[in-house]
Amino acid sequence: MTMHPSSIIPSGLPALDADSSAHAQAVSHYLMQQIRASDIDFIPFDTWMDMALYAPGLGYYSAGNTKFGSHLPTGDFTTAPELTPLYGRTLARQVAQVLTESESVTVLEFGAGSGALAAAIIPALRQMGIEPVYQILEVSADLRARQQQGLASLGANISWLTEFPVEFSGCVVANEVLDAMPVTLFRWNDDGELMELGVRLAQASQNHAVAVEAADGTNAPLPSFEFAERRADPALQGLVSQRMPPLPGYQSEINRQAEAWMTQMGSWLKRGAALLMDYGFPQREYYHPQRHEGTLMCHFRHHAHSQPLIYAGLQDITSHVDFTAMADAALSGGLQVLGYTSQARFLINAGLPDLLTQTDAVTNPQTMSAVQKLLSEAEMGELFKVLAVGRGVDQALMGFNRGDRRDRL
Ligand SMILES: C[S@@+](CC[C@H](N)C(=O)[O-])C[C@H]1O[C@@H](n2cnc3c(N)ncnc32)[C@H](O)[C@@H]1O
Repeated sequence: MTMHPSSIIPSGLPALDADSSAHAQAVSHYLMQQIRASDIDFIPFDTWMDMALYAPGLGYYSAGNTKFGSHLPTGDFTTAPELTPLYGRTLARQVAQVLTESESVTVLEFGAGSGALAAAIIPALRQMGIEPVYQILEVSADLRARQQQGLASLGANISWLTEFPVEFSGCVVANEVLDAMPVTLFRWNDDGELMELGVRLAQASQNHAVAVEAADGTNAPLPSFEFAERRADPALQGLVSQRMPPLPGYQSEINRQAEAWMTQMGSWLKRGAALLMDYGFPQREYYHPQRHEGTLMCHFRHHAHSQPLIYAGLQDITSHVDFTAMADAALSGGLQVLGYTSQARFLINAGLPDLLTQTDAVTNPQTMSAVQKLLSEAEMGELFKVLAVGRGVDQALMGFNRGDRRDRL
């Protein structure tokens, strides 16, 4: 196992208040125990990311810490549904077409966050004469409770699932969910061997850890963590080798959980389509030689940085989506790839300009600034993509009428 230098706190990150410090203390202590419980004092990065984001009551998404929204000075990041309800209303047009095609009124949303997307889609479907059966599958109990509270006033038929449906017909939506699934980190070393990255306690913090236990104290210093690596197992070697040649020093990630999720969809999505919105690109771009540090990013109060081992439980950790891998995984689950394009192109095809003329949006500077963010190439319009996969949908989907880029996957 090779050691890497420990992570440092990037300059400019806001200082932690007392509550945040106490929470970081609890999460770090938990992670330290998990590392110590492993035979080799090492946990693979995907396990680390999973716990830092989703450990019940502790992880970033599971402990009341998630701060959606640009309007909050303490917000961490902003998603399209949080920017403006026009995003959800436009998406609803595509959802309505899929519902008609699948002869169903059921929408299944994964990872609904604050509930903003559902709050826009449901009234928009009603305006189109569809009273939806809306289902949400959310891994975070904390966010599920927030969604239940926030959406109650709609008086809609909404239920929360705890597992995949056995059989489903209708429309699946997932906005920025694939990017929040834990990734495996890898690096090609100087000898051309593939290494898997993981996390261990930084040498100095082994002493801190003793102090934490001895005092059973909340004021003990935070344990600190560092990257370490081990030789990749044959399964990981096979997967990475299919995607890129060995490039010494090149580090990146692979989202095996998201791929399994896509493949599994093929077993329960019987008729209809899934609309997957996220930032990312096709595989050729993802593993481009120039992208030699991968795409892993962290978000803390609108500061983006690349240190996932700090502020455990307080910051979002995310990676871009390899849309070629997602499409391949859907195909191997027996689904068809129905469309792939940029967010801007999708929203224009689905009728955002038309919706703008029906509202007072054009005279509202805040809404216009949000729309500009959604469409601008320099903001979300080009980096964000929409991938549609499904089964039993005969008509071309309206969101991909022009500018379908399936040939680039
Ligand atoms: C970046 S947030 C996006 C929230 C919301 N969709 C939005 O766009 O504002 C990621 C969401 O996905 C959820 N999530 C992550 N993995 C999931 C999974 N495998 N199944 C369901 N939800 C998941 C998180 O708990 C969180 O609600």
